[in-house]
Amino acid sequence: MATRQLWIISLVLCSALPSAATVNWKLTVTNNIQAYQHDCVIINCTFEYNNCTEEQKKIQSTPEKGIWMKKEGMDVNLYHPNSSQIHSDFRGRTELLGNISQKNCTLKINNLRKTDAGQYIFRVEGITTKGGICHYRYIEQPVKLKVFNKDTRPVITMDEVKVGSLATVTCSINYTCVSNPPDLNWSHEQRENDSIYKNRHGDQWILTSILTFQTQESDLDTMINCTAKYNLSSSGYEEKKESTLLKLGYPPRIKEESACSKNQCVCVVDSRPPSVIRWLSSDGKSVISNISAKEYKVEYELNILDVNVGVLYCEAINRHGKSTVSFSLGSSLGFLYIVISGFAVLIIILLAAIFYMWRFRIQKEKKNTLYMMTNPLYKTTE
Ligand SMILES: *[C@@H]1O[C@H](CO)[C@@H](O)[C@H](O)[C@H]1NC(C)=O
Ligand SMILES: *[C@@H]1O[C@H](CO)[C@@H](O)[C@H](O)[C@H]1NC(C)=O
Ligand SMILES: *[C@@H]1O[C@H](CO)[C@@H](O)[C@H](O)[C@H]1NC(C)=O
Ligand SMILES: *[C@@H]1O[C@H](CO)[C@@H](O)[C@H](O)[C@H]1NC(C)=O
Ligand SMILES: *[C@@H]1O[C@H](CO)[C@@H](O)[C@H](O)[C@H]1NC(C)=O
Ligand SMILES: *[C@@H]1O[C@H](CO)[C@@H](O)[C@H](O)[C@H]1NC(C)=O
Ligand SMILES: *[C@@H]1O[C@H](CO)[C@@H](O)[C@H](O)[C@H]1NC(C)=O
Ligand SMILES: *[C@@H]1O[C@H](CO)[C@@H](O)[C@H](O)[C@H]1NC(C)=O
Ligand SMILES: *[C@@H]1O[C@H](CO)[C@@H](O)[C@H](O)[C@H]1NC(C)=O
Ligand SMILES: *[C@@H]1O[C@H](CO)[C@@H](O)[C@H](O)[C@H]1NC(C)=O
Ligand SMILES: *[C@@H]1O[C@H](CO)[C@@H](O)[C@H](O)[C@H]1NC(C)=O
Repeated sequence: MATRQLWIISLVLCSALPSAATVNWKLTVTNNIQAYQHDCVIINCTFEYNNCTEEQKKIQSTPEKGIWMKKEGMDVNLYHPNSSQIHSDFRGRTELLGNISQKNCTLKINNLRKTDAGQYIFRVEGITTKGGICHYRYIEQPVKLKVFNKDTRPVITMDEVKVGSLATVTCSINYTCVSNPPDLNWSHEQRENDSIYKNRHGDQWILTSILTFQTQESDLDTMINCTAKYNLSSSGYEEKKESTLLKLGYPPRIKEESACSKNQCVCVVDSRPPSVIRWLSSDGKSVISNISAKEYKVEYELNILDVNVGVLYCEAINRHGKSTVSFSLGSSLGFLYIVISGFAVLIIILLAAIFYMWRFRIQKEKKNTLYMMTNPLYKTTE
């Protein structure tokens, strides 16, 4: 009998213990939160409440007040239902999104400041049936908040396209505030056609705006801006702008000022990105010389005295296309002059040679006649 009673008692004790353990002072939060300056952060939070049974011997009470404190030299209230008890650094920036009676302590902090980084503690208060206050600080479960003081400007990316074709420009920004994400705007309003995407990345979000537009010649050397606008709720708005040069290219354009002069040919090429430029001989195949240009507009020269061809080609190639122009050396006046004078000299030499040979022959013939006349033997040998 005695052993059986003991067994029942221990059974009661055993069943009482787990229930006491489950109804513990427990907070369910993300312990480490990272957020961006000027953005907001939402601390998702629920708590368990045990009616102050241990401290106040089974006095009934319900949670009524939730207070968030920041652990500093002296704890400061960053959220309190009575706003006059909120520290001035936080007043107007904090909101309790959760419902305390539903044991939800979710907190939102707007317009984060670098100085907001630190440890946050939740405190709950309930009024007992006897009019006393039952309170608990969840000191074992602090929330550690890290505020990125890094540059929070958006990031613009774009692949180079040929002018006249469709450009796709992407602007993205990371944020933590789910309730009011930043707004992304482009400077190319008149031709705007953008689509917005939101992607979750851990406890962060990435907002992406993809802009597509038909590029035109006037877009060359034009900046495109993407502005992220943060809603700081009561404190207005904060804008962060990023600018980038539109990445546009075009195939090589061989300019009109390209020409051949007396002893030099010059090929003026304008292209983006810079081209590989070649001088080709009259067969259009053999490379006389070539360069890989370093700038958009270049003058590539060729000393024509080294070349003995009638036609030359200048060819420029970049990833957007190829351009070729031929130079007829005969049509170049300077060159023609050289050619003509060259011919003249040749003819003079030839004529001189003919004349000299003709005179030599006459002289020889005369000599022969003289010989015939002066040599008496000549006749006999005949
Ligand atoms: C907060 O927690 C609830 C319940 O676990 C979940 O549904 C919700 O997505 C969470 N919110 C955020 C912002 O993490
Ligand atoms: C706390 O008290 C409420 C009534 O005020 C009661 O409904 C609840 O069951 C109690 N909780 C615990 C764990 O004792
Ligand atoms: C808020 O707190 C102030 C200062 O502690 C106090 O004077 C005031 O009565 C409180 N207001 C409410 C509504 O409790
Ligand atoms: C707590 O409240 C927040 C804000 O209203 C909500 O997003 C979240 O889902 C709630 N959590 C639970 C567990 O109900
Ligand atoms: C909080 O929850 C309680 C009980 O579920 C409900 O009566 C009350 O209206 C809620 N308060 C708010 C502000 O939603
Ligand atoms: C956003 O955050 C992710 C992950 O933390 C990071 O890899 C990425 O570079 C960030 N993007 C921007 C635009 O800051
Ligand atoms: C962005 O554009 C939208 C629609 O054109 C406009 O409502 C919004 O005010 C603009 N935001 C900014 C930051 O200019
Ligand atoms: C883009 O930003 C640059 C530099 O901040 C500014 O000079 C330019 O006017 C802006 N362009 C537009 C279209 O807003
Ligand atoms: C906007 O861009 C999308 C995707 O590139 C395209 O399908 C749509 O036709 C475009 N709309 C306008 C008005 O240009
Ligand atoms: C900015 O935030 C405040 C508070 O959250 C809200 O009342 C307001 O409607 C928001 N404004 C915009 C344009 O989203
Ligand atoms: C020039 O041509 C030579 C021989 O064809 C080649 O090896 C070299 O890479 C070329 N240089 C450039 C800049 O294209």
